Amino acid sequence: MWKDWIRPFVRPLPQWSVVAMAPPQQAVTATLHWDGDSADVTADHTVASLKPLVIATSIDAGQRPVLEYRDSATGRLLGVLRLARAASVPIENTSLSLYHVAAGEHRCLGWPRRPWNAWLQNRLMRKHRASNHLNMEPAVAQQLMIAYLCPRPVILVSVDAPGHRNIFPMDLIGPLERSGLFSLALRSTNVSVPTMRDVRRVALSGIPAAMKDVVYKLAEHHKQPLADWDALPFPVRLSREFAIPAVAAALHIRELAIVHSQEIGSHTLFLGRIVSDENLAEGTQLHHTAGFHQAWRRRQGVPFAEV
Ligand SMILES: Cc1cc2nc3c(=O)[nH]c(=O)nc-3n(C[C@H](O)[C@H](O)[C@H](O)COP(=O)(O)O)c2cc1C
Repeated sequence: MWKDWIRPFVRPLPQWSVVAMAPPQQAVTATLHWDGDSADVTADHTVASLKPLVIATSIDAGQRPVLEYRDSATGRLLGVLRLARAASVPIENTSLSLYHVAAGEHRCLGWPRRPWNAWLQNRLMRKHRASNHLNMEPAVAQQLMIAYLCPRPVILVSVDAPGHRNIFPMDLIGPLERSGLFSLALRSTNVSVPTMRDVRRVALSGIPAAMKDVVYKLAEHHKQPLADWDALPFPVRLSREFAIPAVAAALHIRELAIVHSQEIGSHTLFLGRIVSDENLAEGTQLHHTAGFHQAWRRRQGVPFAEV
């Protein structure tokens, strides 16, 4: 059909691709480079805020490091983010570095498809700006897609306190390996932020790919708390130490003791230590990656399983 042939020329790729893979993802390797030095940060960098776009890592990589994303199997460069040092955050006996994203490029599409796809995506973003509550600049949204070249796992975060209970999806999360900390970047408008600052404990459920629809539906709980644990459309089980209701069908349930929280732009960055980690099932977890990454994988004949 001529329409199938013409589509890539008139329609942008989706910004995000929802994929299934066994955790932890190993398809993409992230490396920080600075002053002739480098460090593998595949399990040691995370998004700390969207507006401005800030990356956190346990590495002190100087003033202007470059973050490179490469396909692990082939070594092919997929994209880079150019960073600029913003702050250092001392926490307990360690410290984290915060970096603004100054610029970024990806290499998942060739020329002229790369600039043309970005132009189509940015035009669509401007058109839907009113419904995009963070109102991100298109150039920053492009940089965020590059940060998603490392596929990000989706979890459900449970909060349970007298008078407030909630469960909502997150993917701006991750281990900061060298510091032993685990981060959650939560928009400060989220209705559970004050409770999380107060009770300082949450349960994190690793979500099987098959639960995509039910998990997306729970996004509404970023704005309104959960009325009753019994109201959820799936069974819960109590987490091991804190007895917080979590997803019974989760691949794993981790409990996080929050040791620090601070506002960074649009988001509140929570940092905690994992106090228990129960592996409950084998299987693929829901992940998000950039649409242009999946398009590149498809061209190589190795697409991620889409959900
Ligand atoms: C799978 C999934 C993952 C999400 N991850 C995060 C996250 O890590 N941090 C966050 O603040 N919001 C997260 N959200 C929430 C949404 O980005 C959004 O803030 C929420 O749906 C409320 O949207 P609105 O205020 O733009 O209408 C996630 C939503 C979904 C469906």
